[in-house]
Amino acid sequence: AHVVCDGCVNCKHTDCVDVCPVDAFREGPNFLVIDPDECIDCAVCIPECPEAAIFAEEDVPEDQQEYIQINAELSKQWPSITRKKPAPDDWEKWSGVPNKLQYLKR
Ligand code: SF4
Ligand code: F3S
Repeated sequence: AHVVCDGCVNCKHTDCVDVCPVDAFREGPNFLVIDPDECIDCAVCIPECPEAAIFAEEDVPEDQQEYIQINAELSKQWPSITRKKPAPDDWEKWSGVPNKLQYLKR
C-alpha cells in the first residue's frame, strides 16, 4: 500500500484525495492516512502532495517506518475524505519541519 508520512502532519493540503480512484484516504484532525486494505498502489497521489509526504510502503524512509502502522491503525478509526478542502491556516509554518509525529492528533 501507499503510506502518508511525516510531511503531512499540520500541513494537510488534501490535494491527494481528489485523485484517488478508490477513495482510500481517511481524515484526522491534522493528518490524513491511507487505508492499506483499499489502496491499489496506483501511485497517482504521490505527485499531488506539495509536501511529498506520500510513499509506496517499500520507499518509506527509514526514520518514518512508524507511519506504516499509523496508517493501518488510524484508517480504521477515521472517516473517509474524498474532496479537497482548505489546508490549515498555519500550514506554511509546518512545511518542511522534520519529526512532526509528536504533533499528530488522534
Ligand atoms: Fe489512492 Fe492510488 Fe494513492 Fe493508493 S496509491 S492512496 S489507490 S491514489
Ligand atoms: Fe497530506 Fe499531502 Fe495529502 S500534505 S493531505 S498527504 S496532499
